[in-house]
Amino acid sequence: MPFGETVPDSLLDRVNKEPCLVQFLETPIRYQNQDIDVVVDYYSVTDLPSDVFAWTMDLVKKNMLSMYESSQGGWNEAEKRQEMLAPQARYLVARSATDVNDRKGFLMFQMVQEETMDDDVMANCAYCYEIQLMASARSRGLGEFLMHLLDRVGCHWKMDKVMLTVFKSNEGAFRFYTKKLGFELDEISPGACLPRSKARLFDYELLSKPCSQ
Ligand SMILES: CC(C)(COP(=O)(O)OP(=O)(O)OC[C@H]1O[C@@H](n2cnc3c(N)ncnc32)[C@H](O)[C@@H]1OP(=O)(O)O)[C@@H](O)C(=O)NCCC(=O)NCCS
Repeated sequence: MPFGETVPDSLLDRVNKEPCLVQFLETPIRYQNQDIDVVVDYYSVTDLPSDVFAWTMDLVKKNMLSMYESSQGGWNEAEKRQEMLAPQARYLVARSATDVNDRKGFLMFQMVQEETMDDDVMANCAYCYEIQLMASARSRGLGEFLMHLLDRVGCHWKMDKVMLTVFKSNEGAFRFYTKKLGFELDEISPGACLPRSKARLFDYELLSKPCSQ
C-alpha cells in the first residue's frame, strides 16, 4: 500500500464502531405469549447502567458458579467481570413489559473474528458470550427468542455465523442449542477437529450456526 494511504476498515471494524446494532429492528423489541410478556432493551457496554451490570453478574453466578467450579478452568470472578465489560460487549436485556426493574434474563454478545480450519481464513462471528435467564423465566421460549434476535443481528451485519461456547456438563443448554435451535459442533470445536481420545479431555465445545440470510 503506497505511503499515506489509509487502510480500509474491515467489515468487523465498521460493525464494532456502530453504537447500536439493533437499530434496524422495530422497537420496542417485544416477546409475548400466554406465559410471559417482555421487552428487550439494548445496551452497549458503555451505556449499560451499573445496577443492570451488577444484576447480570449475579445471575451468571447464580446459574453457573457450580458448573465453573467443577470445570477445568475453575471460577475466576475478575476474569468473568473483565469479559463481561469488554469494550465491544453488547447486551440484550429482557425485562417485564410493565416493570423495567423486573428483569428476566439477558444475552451478551460481541462481534468477533474466530479461526477456521483454514489457516488463511477467519470467520466473522456474532458470538454469544452469555445467555442467562432467571429460573422463573425459562421454558417459555424466551431463550429461543433471544438467540433468534442474535441471529437476525448477525445476519443484518453480514456476519458468517452465530457462535458460542458451552460446557459439556450443561446438558440442558446443549440440548437447547443443538436440538431446539439447530446448532452444530463448530469445525474448530475439540469434538470436531480432534481425535476422540484428545477431544474428551476438553470440558467444553464450540457450537455454531450459519447466519440465516
Ligand atoms: C439455556 C437457556 C438459555 C434456555 O432458555 P429457555 O428460555 O429456557 O429455552 P426455551 O424455552 O426457548 O427452550 C426450552 C427448550 O430447550 C431445551 N432446554 C433448555 N434448557 C434446558 C434445560 N436446562 N434442561 C433441559 N432442556 C432444556 C428443552 O428442549 C426445552 O424444552 P422444554 O421447555 O419443553 O423442556 C435457559 O434455560 C437458561 O438460562 N439456563 C441457565 C443458564 C445457562 O445454562 N445458560 C447457557 C450457558 S451456555
